[in-house]
Amino acid sequence: MDWRVLLQQAMQAHQKDDLDGAERGYREVLELRVAQPDALHYLGVLCHQRGRSDEGAELIRTSLRITPKHPDAHNNLGNVLKESGHLAEAEGCYRRALDCGPDHYNAMNNLAVVLEAQERPEEAFQAYSKLLEMAPEFARGYYLMGTFLRNFAQSMEHLEQSVECFRRAIALDKDDLRALQALGVGLYALNQPSEAAQVYREWLAREPDNPVPQHMLAACGGAEAPSRAGDDYVRDTFDGFADSFDEQLLQNLGYRAPEVLVSALGEFLGDPRGALDVLDAGCGTGLCAGPMRPWTRRLAGVDLSGRMVEKARLRGGYEELEVAEITHWLEQHPQAYDVVLSADTLVYFGELQPVLQASHDALRPGGWVGFTLEASLSDDQGFELTPSGRYRHARGYVETTLEHAGFGDVVVRSDRLRKESGRPVEGWVVLGRRKDD
Ligand SMILES: C[S@@+](CC[C@H](N)C(=O)[O-])C[C@H]1O[C@@H](n2cnc3c(N)ncnc32)[C@H](O)[C@@H]1O
Repeated sequence: MDWRVLLQQAMQAHQKDDLDGAERGYREVLELRVAQPDALHYLGVLCHQRGRSDEGAELIRTSLRITPKHPDAHNNLGNVLKESGHLAEAEGCYRRALDCGPDHYNAMNNLAVVLEAQERPEEAFQAYSKLLEMAPEFARGYYLMGTFLRNFAQSMEHLEQSVECFRRAIALDKDDLRALQALGVGLYALNQPSEAAQVYREWLAREPDNPVPQHMLAACGGAEAPSRAGDDYVRDTFDGFADSFDEQLLQNLGYRAPEVLVSALGEFLGDPRGALDVLDAGCGTGLCAGPMRPWTRRLAGVDLSGRMVEKARLRGGYEELEVAEITHWLEQHPQAYDVVLSADTLVYFGELQPVLQASHDALRPGGWVGFTLEASLSDDQGFELTPSGRYRHARGYVETTLEHAGFGDVVVRSDRLRKESGRPVEGWVVLGRRKDD
């Protein structure tokens, strides 16, 4: 068959997410024409999608040696490098994409994102501004500019501008779930709780069964708070975040929970001998796997969001990954683990008693639970649902609940685990040991 037909078929398979068919097709093209640059480029993108990012980057580099002025290939190489954490190299690729194709607004978008992720706010602001000049109808550009202004806010004025960006994003795409949620959170931060509630009420009027506005309305005081975030809310929210690694980079700005939690646990687990059975409860995209690895014999991860679990699968490091609700999973696995860790996940739980009791029962005697929370400063309440949709817990409540569930050696340390609206959020790093029965 002619290589051009094969290439077309492979690209169609790729678009339909038939990765096996597409990979076979690209390789057949490359057997017929060893250095066909499009086949090299798209095969590189595909390898990255399958978690083989180094191989993918090398294939795209080879294609660029043959067609060095290809803006899409530079942009895609940038994406592979950015998503592998090589932000400075990715920046170079986006700049080369823009040299070859000055109208390439996706490359400008990506350049702005990596500048922001490298905490270079002035340059990022310029890049976002250029992006909005280049693509004034691009809803996502306004959403990203809005989150940038919120993340680096120095004044109320920046928060106001951020809210305006979210309004514009919604005007261009009324189904933009993240922009709607960000608008509500932003209005609350501007001390406009009834306007925030109104955003969620209008959203609910259009979509009465949507769990996101239901939860967010409760979060800003417009309805009764549930004892934990509902499964549908968690699934919808995190399936949406996982879709784009760009947003995750933004969300994770200054995010330290996995490394801080694992290092605190490490003080009590002794030398890492690769001998422990560990559950990462609410594993998300798998950021705890790397730091925890030296201690684990078998690492399992569970999460409600299938898309987050897909990302964790690509990142690797787990012997087992399942889409499941954590309390339910723990209840099904009595005395199965030496450690249950949960970074930035119990912030979606108000009432901690059921999940801590289930953790206790899933641990072997002497096993450790470790988790992070956001700190509530009002000691009398126990826990509160905040306008961000997350819960905060008081230290006394956490200590008492752990004791009632059968944990001893309780440690609660305060730390700053991430930033919100440009400011660090105060958190707890919590450890407890299952007492011998
Ligand atoms: C902020 S992310 C943190 C992910 C990961 N632990 C990390 O530190 O990067 C919270 C994760 O908890 C998951 N989650 C929240 N409530 C859950 C529940 N009840 N059962 C399972 N997963 C849950 C979400 O889907 C999301 O992936």
